[in-house]
Amino acid sequence: MNLMVLILAAGKGTRMKSDMPKVLFKAAGRPMVDYVVDAASELGAGRINVVIGNGAELVQKHLAGKAEFSVQTQQRGTGDAVMAAADSINGFDGKVLILCGDMPLVKSETLKSFIEEAEKHPVAFMSVKVKNPFGYGRVIRGVDGSVIKIVEEKDATEDEKREDEINTGIYLCDSKELMTRLAEVDCNNAQGEYYLTDIVKKGAYAHLCKDETEFLGVNNRVQLAEASRVLWDRVAEKHMMNGVSILDPKNFYCDCTVEIDNDVTIYPNVFLEGDTTIGKGSIVYSGSRIKDSIIAENCEIKENCLITESHVGAESHIGPMAHLRPGSVLDGENKVGNFVELKKAKMGIGSKSSHLTYLGDAEIGKDVNIGCGTITCNYDGYSKYKTIIEDGVFVGSDVQLVAPVKVGKGALIAAGSTITKDVPADALGITRAKQQNMEGWVSSWKKKKGVE
Ligand code: UD1
Ligand code: CA
Repeated sequence: MNLMVLILAAGKGTRMKSDMPKVLFKAAGRPMVDYVVDAASELGAGRINVVIGNGAELVQKHLAGKAEFSVQTQQRGTGDAVMAAADSINGFDGKVLILCGDMPLVKSETLKSFIEEAEKHPVAFMSVKVKNPFGYGRVIRGVDGSVIKIVEEKDATEDEKREDEINTGIYLCDSKELMTRLAEVDCNNAQGEYYLTDIVKKGAYAHLCKDETEFLGVNNRVQLAEASRVLWDRVAEKHMMNGVSILDPKNFYCDCTVEIDNDVTIYPNVFLEGDTTIGKGSIVYSGSRIKDSIIAENCEIKENCLITESHVGAESHIGPMAHLRPGSVLDGENKVGNFVELKKAKMGIGSKSSHLTYLGDAEIGKDVNIGCGTITCNYDGYSKYKTIIEDGVFVGSDVQLVAPVKVGKGALIAAGSTITKDVPADALGITRAKQQNMEGWVSSWKKKKGVE
């Protein structure tokens, strides 16, 4: 069968109350339209055409390379949106599957079985019985069960509003028949719009589905949150079936792009985003967000860490409250403790930085100990400079390393030092002022002031 998929994504999205085009709103971390384009791509359609209009440039830029585009200059309704693609449809002989860009939950298997069934009919659409039909177009059938029309919420009579069978907004039509019927659609309705739904008035097959979840059309942010939750639930279920322990699946926020190995444990309120991988045996505790990062095996990410574009090697312990900024690479068996921030910092095997530290633009070797309160001074207000710390170095507490600077293998930096010059291997680097103790100073000072 010759198939073309048309995705309507030009609407104003008035009910979102936003300047951003509705279809680019993220459901579970991904723009809604991406889910629809993905489901369409899995159908083996020769062409995917997205009708854009509101925020056209943004949507086109976002989907570049994944679809072709038709522009609807004025948003005059779903029928008009299909008309905007008239050039593509007229030059095509086959079936047109119409989807909406605001339906992120629909699965390609569901579309496949609809197509199989609907193929025999010149015009077909999917309907579903729902608990709360408010806002959807109601399917009105005659006494013999055949479809008479679809009425929108705003045009429906009280009787019609009680119908619980709704239009999902998914259609399959012969390309020629679609264009013929569309030509006759007018805008005599409550919204003054050209309704695509009017094409069913000349007879259509309604494929009635049972499960309503897949057909949620997101018109406002309440429905967006609802869609996100369903998508996150699906991801949670997939991972749990693959051997991941998710302590509270209702408080699990994981993009569908994330890979998690078995025997990983995830505590509540963890966000896993983008191209993230979590290796076998690792544990991620509450409140952490990990984006575009690799966490290798048997790591422990304690509470409230933020990790972006970083690599955490096996058997490492991070946090609580650690910040790994882009370009942080830990080779393994590392410790990055509370209130430690890393940026473009590499750490060799076994190195530790346990407390209150900033390591930026740093190259740190193996088995290095970075004391509490260490700061790499990597920025002079104009440029960034590098700090190199070789294997086995011990950096005492409260040390500033003014970059560019290098500390040689096995060296020791005394606590409280400000290091501005390279420290050779095996040396003690110390810049501390000599301590003086003035015996009895305090009591004589108090006496002078006349205080106790
Ligand atoms: C539409 C259907 C309704 C159905 C519901 C399913 C019509 C008239 N109504 O209503 O029967 O139950 O979907 O979710 O078709 N769009 C354009 N250009 C426009 C208008 C809309 O491209 O001028 C796009 C939107 O971006 C959106 C889709 O068409 O992706 C649906 O539009 P929307 O306004 O959300 O329609 P609903 O009121 O939800
Ligand atoms: Ca909608």
